[in-house]
Amino acid sequence: MKINFSLNGKETELDVDPMAVALDVVRGLSLTGTKEGCGVGVCGACTIMVNGSPVSSCICLVGTLADKDVWTIEGIAEKMPELIDSFVEEEGMQCGICTPGQIVAAAAIESVGASNAEEIKKYMAGNLCRCTGYQTILSAVEDHLAVN
Ligand code: FES
Ligand code: FES
Repeated sequence: MKINFSLNGKETELDVDPMAVALDVVRGLSLTGTKEGCGVGVCGACTIMVNGSPVSSCICLVGTLADKDVWTIEGIAEKMPELIDSFVEEEGMQCGICTPGQIVAAAAIESVGASNAEEIKKYMAGNLCRCTGYQTILSAVEDHLAVN
């Protein structure tokens, strides 16, 4: 089935099984920045942005992306380099597996209106990290929001 959507700002047409998992589809397009952690919608490592909201791509069927505005970490990194800089400056990563999902979730944060430290903490709670202890990630997001 043909599916049309915007992917990282470019109109895209795919001939795919609409029941295919979005995580597998984007990685199959060489967008391998999107990572699989738990594979069951719990950890946030696979987060993509769909119409401005964070979505766990491991539990998202690609057919639901038809006509949507979809961003992966590759597109976010190009569009929002200052957000990447905040994660680098605050050292908001260690092994890096969770990092693309953390950054994509942070990119979507303005659309949900989290604007203070407590709201940011609640908003980012769906993105798990085994390494950092979270504070540097939260500092990176706070830093990004303060400068934008
Ligand atoms: S890999 Fe999708 S939420 Fe964990
Ligand atoms: S940096 Fe390793 S899981 Fe977050």
